[in-house]
Amino acid sequence: MAEGTKDAYRRIARFYDRVLEPLDAPLRPIAMKLYPVDSSMTVLDIGCGTGSHLEIYVNAGAECHGIDLSPAMLEQATNRLGDRADLRLGDATALPYDANSFDLAVASLFLHELDPATRNDALVEMARVVRPDGRIMVIDYFCGKRRFKGHVMRAISAIPERIAGRNHHAQYRRYVKLGGVPTMASDAGLIVDREKIVAGGNLALWLLRANG
Ligand SMILES: C[S@@+](CC[C@H](N)C(=O)[O-])C[C@H]1O[C@@H](n2cnc3c(N)ncnc32)[C@H](O)[C@@H]1O
Repeated sequence: MAEGTKDAYRRIARFYDRVLEPLDAPLRPIAMKLYPVDSSMTVLDIGCGTGSHLEIYVNAGAECHGIDLSPAMLEQATNRLGDRADLRLGDATALPYDANSFDLAVASLFLHELDPATRNDALVEMARVVRPDGRIMVIDYFCGKRRFKGHVMRAISAIPERIAGRNHHAQYRRYVKLGGVPTMASDAGLIVDREKIVAGGNLALWLLRANG
């Protein structure tokens, strides 16, 4: 993080796992089922936050790497994972890894908070660091039809989006307006391999791969 830049998660990092993770915890096993990871594989979690998603791959014995822009969130991830994962402070748009390094690159619940150009840059970077036969997994808000449960879940999800600040909420609204992950994947030259809609249509998991 550049000197003088504010850490948007500085205040909530300490409470994040207690307040927000209970809402997101059901996603973790679904992700593992959608793209099973074992001890022969290498995983990168971008915007890894407190490391709760990365931990499922650590527990599967995979070689795990996490990167996040927030020192406060990374501190929580370090408390959780210790030296069981390689954790780095850094920006999703300039990943400090060689091309073709990972079997799986994950972006869980963070792309919606970036502005559209930055989102595209982050996806292009993810595509660069995964192996040609690897996959990108994105977990984020679903912008299609929701059931009643999905509307309730979205109303609950909107609370932290608002608390996170005006800019964060504006990016979230822009994300929804632009059509979410399928649109941004296609803009970044990626193909949607699988889509799993969950939480009554509030969220979805997508497996993306390079075009060709
Ligand atoms: C809502 S949290 C999600 C954390 C975690 N992926 C999860 O599923 O619990 C979003 C995370 O993305 C990180 N983030 C936001 N912009 C980023 C960027 N440009 N590069 C890396 N991380 C970023 C934030 O610091 C935060 O930790």
